[in-house]
Amino acid sequence: MTPLPRIVGAEILDGLGEDDPAARHSRRDLRRVHRIMGTCSILLRTMRSWALPGSSSAPLRVLELGAGDGSLMLRVAHALAPRWPRVELTLLDRQALVEPDTLRQYASLGWTAVASRMDVLDWVAGPGLIEGAGDSGLRWDVIVANLFLHHFQAGALGELLRAVAARCDHFLACEPRRARPALLASHLVRAIGANAVTREDAVLSVHAGFRDQELSGLWPPGAAAWATREHPAGPFSHCFSAVREGPG
Ligand SMILES: C[S@@+](CC[C@H](N)C(=O)[O-])C[C@H]1O[C@@H](n2cnc3c(N)ncnc32)[C@H](O)[C@@H]1O
Repeated sequence: MTPLPRIVGAEILDGLGEDDPAARHSRRDLRRVHRIMGTCSILLRTMRSWALPGSSSAPLRVLELGAGDGSLMLRVAHALAPRWPRVELTLLDRQALVEPDTLRQYASLGWTAVASRMDVLDWVAGPGLIEGAGDSGLRWDVIVANLFLHHFQAGALGELLRAVAARCDHFLACEPRRARPALLASHLVRAIGANAVTREDAVLSVHAGFRDQELSGLWPPGAAAWATREHPAGPFSHCFSAVREGPG
C-alpha cells in the first residue's frame, strides 16, 4: 500500500478564540484523546530514561512548546516529581490557555510553572528569550513538543528544530503517526463525544503527522554530537528524541 503523503492543513482549533465554547469542548476532547493514545506513558518512557540530575542540583529547566492548557504536562509532572523534584517549567503557547488552578497544581508538586504567550516562530527567529522564563531563559535542560510539530511545513520545521538543538540538551516530540490505522481512528473520534472541531482536526493531524525517520532528516547536523531516536509509539503516535552527547 502506498504511504500517505504528508499534507499540512490549517486546524480549526487554531483559528478559534481562547474562550470559544467549541474550542473549550475541543480541548476537553483532546484530554480524552491523550488517554486513548497513551500519550503520558509514552512521554514518561523516554523522559525517565534520561540521566538528568536529581534533587541535589539546580532546578531542571523544562520548556514545552505549544503546551495548550498545560494539562498533559501536569500528568507528566505528577509522575516525574519524585524523580525530578525541582523543575522550572515554561509552558509556551500562542494562546493563553493555562488556568491559574493548573499553575497551583504544579506548585503543589514543587514545580514552578509559568505560562508564556508567544508564537513559537518568534522564539525561533529571536534570541530565544521567553517572557517570564527568567534571565537564564535562553538555555533548557529539556524541551518537549507534543501534538505540535505537525502544525509546520518542512521548511519552518527545520528552522524550529535548529533552534531547539541550539537551545537544549534533551528534546522529545510526540506527534500523530501518519499511518492508515491512525487515520481510521481519527475518523472515529465521534465515538468519544468529540465535537465537529476535534473530528476535523483529528483527521488533519494524522495527514500532517510523521512516519519513518522524517524528523531525524530535519534534525540539524552539527558539531555537537546528538543521540537521536525516532520510532512509532503506542497505537497512534510517532516519537522523536534527541540527547546531547557532545559540547554544544
Ligand atoms: C493540538 S494542541 C496540543 C496542546 C498540548 N501540547 C497537548 O498535547 O495537549 C496544539 C497547540 O499548539 C498551539 N500552537 C499552534 N501554533 C502555534 C505557534 N505558532 N506558536 C505557539 N503555539 C502554537 C495551539 O495554540 C495549541 O494549543
